[in-house]
Amino acid sequence: MFLRTVLHCLWIGSMTSWVRGLDFNFHDSKQIEVYLQSVSKNYSTFTNLYSIGKSVQGRELWVLVLGKYPMEHKVGIPEFKYVGNMHGDEVVGREMLLHLIDYLVKNYGADSTVTRLIDSSRLHVLPSMNPDGFEASAPPDCVFSKGRYNRNNVDLNRNFPDTFSTAASSSMQPETQAVMSWIQSESFVLSANLHGGTVVASYPYDNSNGGSELVNGVSRSPDHDVFVHLAKTYSYNHTTMHTGSQCGSLTFPDGITNGYQWYTLIGGMQDYNYIWGQCFEITLELSCCKYPPADQLADFWQQNRAALLAYMQQVHLGVKGQVLDVDGNPIPSAVVEVQGRNNICLYKTNKHGEYYRLLLPGTYTFVVTVPGREPMKRTLQIPNGPASFSALKYDFVFQSNSPTSDSVAAESCTTANHSSNNAAASLQAPHFAILLALAGAVAMSGLVHS
Ligand SMILES: *[C@@H]1O[C@H](CO)[C@@H](O)[C@H](O)[C@H]1NC(C)=O
Ligand SMILES: *[C@@H]1O[C@H](CO)[C@@H](O)[C@H](O)[C@H]1NC(C)=O
Ligand SMILES: *[C@@H]1O[C@H](CO)[C@@H](O)[C@H](O)[C@H]1NC(C)=O
Ligand SMILES: [Zn+2]
Repeated sequence: MFLRTVLHCLWIGSMTSWVRGLDFNFHDSKQIEVYLQSVSKNYSTFTNLYSIGKSVQGRELWVLVLGKYPMEHKVGIPEFKYVGNMHGDEVVGREMLLHLIDYLVKNYGADSTVTRLIDSSRLHVLPSMNPDGFEASAPPDCVFSKGRYNRNNVDLNRNFPDTFSTAASSSMQPETQAVMSWIQSESFVLSANLHGGTVVASYPYDNSNGGSELVNGVSRSPDHDVFVHLAKTYSYNHTTMHTGSQCGSLTFPDGITNGYQWYTLIGGMQDYNYIWGQCFEITLELSCCKYPPADQLADFWQQNRAALLAYMQQVHLGVKGQVLDVDGNPIPSAVVEVQGRNNICLYKTNKHGEYYRLLLPGTYTFVVTVPGREPMKRTLQIPNGPASFSALKYDFVFQSNSPTSDSVAAESCTTANHSSNNAAASLQAPHFAILLALAGAVAMSGLVHS
């Protein structure tokens, strides 16, 4: 209350005051653009502003990135992202991300957690993935409105390629294409996708085809333990999410849920990130009402601030490093597998020969495969990386250049081809059919939150 009064006075003092300090109000696309430009100008040594593309109506999809080296990826520095407002009428996450940016830039160099986060990782923030939907939304809206969709009436969280489903596809939207290209261009390690409509942290998979992943109604990924840990890190660092029941009848033990167990979701973004993008993503539902009154935003910030920070720190779980040849040259597209974790798509090194592998502390055996070489097997003891703001660093160095008869690990997945705008043509493997946008019918049922 005190804070609001202060902000109100500032507002009276100057009609442009919101630029100086971010107020607890909803900001439209133009205001966000002006704010982010101002941040990137004032804090140019550790931030950078870029756009990943445009919405249907031509609004830029702005990303503010923070890091010691904001302009480009550096070997050994993990890439993190937050995505807000994918559903245009779910607006709390959008404002939380603006306040997160405000908090990070103001506390860099002053607060040790913020400083270590920015120095040890590269943090990308997309406050709105669906600015057209936001502009078509208005409060009060607790349950559903058409602003959920993009301008073409497509639900963006049903518009991604889906490993588990074969169904006819509608066209891939520009917002979806922009995010897919973004995931392709940066080696993201960890991500969260902010929604509203209830309060819970939901983790992959969101879909299943009834195969071995389906265990007692849960669609379990090979990294189930890591996802449960990630979701709980958020829910327990949030002031109330872990209590699990805040929005009426739904209850979620620990404030977390497997996406599929909650309800089936086809073409979702988190499964795409995890399966195709090598990026662990969870879905955060932050408010019972999708579009609550602005006077609740200060409270939402208090509820989420510590959780947003603690979650980013998890980018340092596990192990990271490079796959190198005997001369120290990086080997791109080397397959880095953890025994007992059969990812649907093989996890491969990026163009710098780097890999990042989120794992809880413990002992794990790695198998690294490069065409024409004897596969390398190493057992590693992994400590608690987030505590020291760094994953364990380990490079796999291939000493022998002599070819062997062993071929590379069997390819189980082909990544989407991003050079084409046609979604159907963009997938190379025929067994990965896509489902795009069941949107309307499903969402109208009222069951859909994420
Ligand atoms: C950037 O600096 C200018 C000049 O000091 C100030 O008016 C503005 O409010 C600052 N913006 C942000 C977002 O910090
Ligand atoms: C909050 O997050 C930190 C990581 O920053 C984690 O160590 C801690 O266990 C979390 N708190 C709870 C209660 O889970
Ligand atoms: C991706 O699609 C484009 C256009 O359809 C094609 O020219 C290109 O060869 C494809 N790339 C791969 C890796 O298949
Ligand atoms: Zn949503």
